[in-house]
Amino acid sequence: MHLSDEDKRMLNGGFGSGSAFCMRLLSKLGEAVDAERMIPAVSSHIVSFGYQIYGFVADCCKELDSEMLEGVREFKVPSTTNPKFFDLDDHKLVKRFQVTETTIEKMRVSMTHKKFEELGAIPTYTCTPFFIHPTRMGESLAGAESVAIVMYNSIYGARLNRETTPTALAAAVTGKTPYFGMHKPENRYAQIQVDVSKEVDLVSLRTSDYSALGYYAGGIAGDRNVVFSNLPNNLKIGDLKNLLAPLGVSGAVMLAHVVGVTPEAPTLEAALLGRKPEERIEVGKRELEGVYEALNSASEEKADMAVFGCPHAPLGEIAEIALLLRNRKVRDDAFLLIATSKPIKVLADRMGITHEVEKSGGLIVTDMCPHIFLWKQKDPDSVADIGRNIATVATDCTKCAHYLGAQGREIKFGSTEECVKAVM
Ligand code: F3S
Repeated sequence: MHLSDEDKRMLNGGFGSGSAFCMRLLSKLGEAVDAERMIPAVSSHIVSFGYQIYGFVADCCKELDSEMLEGVREFKVPSTTNPKFFDLDDHKLVKRFQVTETTIEKMRVSMTHKKFEELGAIPTYTCTPFFIHPTRMGESLAGAESVAIVMYNSIYGARLNRETTPTALAAAVTGKTPYFGMHKPENRYAQIQVDVSKEVDLVSLRTSDYSALGYYAGGIAGDRNVVFSNLPNNLKIGDLKNLLAPLGVSGAVMLAHVVGVTPEAPTLEAALLGRKPEERIEVGKRELEGVYEALNSASEEKADMAVFGCPHAPLGEIAEIALLLRNRKVRDDAFLLIATSKPIKVLADRMGITHEVEKSGGLIVTDMCPHIFLWKQKDPDSVADIGRNIATVATDCTKCAHYLGAQGREIKFGSTEECVKAVM
């Protein structure tokens, strides 16, 4: 693999031991995938278990992070951050979940996000950095959150691979990434064509239906590039997010062309780069219903918690939920969470939407991933097992249903309205 003089200097310790470690990691990855050279990454999206979870895995990650950051004074490229455990300064959340002061103090000491901020990370703490930190078509990035990867590739026409936590951090430190996979224009053609059957009324698809469609397609696509051939080209950005995010959950899709939306796919032929698709599937009502059946495990209509915003909700999605909550009240023994990023929450505050949600007993939470928040994380003092009393979760997001179901919780996967009703 060809390395520039600067890459070699970095590899040989000219920029300190952390940078050398990071360049070694990236060059080994490059060799493993037959990359011919390193290329500049214009930005990176960092995910670290050091500020997301507790216990043995978190400790291992912290050790690795500190080796990779040894001697590093600042990140070489703008680097956004994935959600942390939760916003420790969110007093409403702390009060509602009865998190004790001792626990908060332990978390403050344990969580490593401050280190990333000292190095210049953009403290987005969201899995939807693309709403805040956009990019241009053709730019190469690095990043380790499946939602960010598929959205940057598919909606912006930017180029990035499905990376790991350490390689995304290494790209932030070095400003480089190996040239392979999605960075190469010739690899960006669609391999599997997804046609939505005429029997599906595209105008009336709900948040959960888009999510189910993406989940179904991802399960068949695996790691192949997808093209959605016949979706309306005026889909809302939230619908696109809900459609594309599950492709990296039931599958490992990095790029899904939506004809008429993806910059590289003005037509189906352009998405296929003039080839024939390897496979063509039609998704009808039966397939979508199958996803609902597969993800639903709850026996009761009622749920202990309703979770929205997985991936983090844009403003329009929050406003729709606020409307559904009007003149309704969340049960005292239930919770309703809408996860989003801080800048979006600020706008919701200013528009009075937050007040509407809170009046009904819901909470708009920032910086956090509901799945990680509810994860049965064990440390010696059980400080992090916050969701221990939550058995049933209602959600309109397949990603959330998939991961919380895997944690052993009962899942009620349904429309936004059904999920709201489940906690009334
Ligand atoms: Fe985001 Fe967590 Fe869902 S990172 S996509 S809120 S599982």
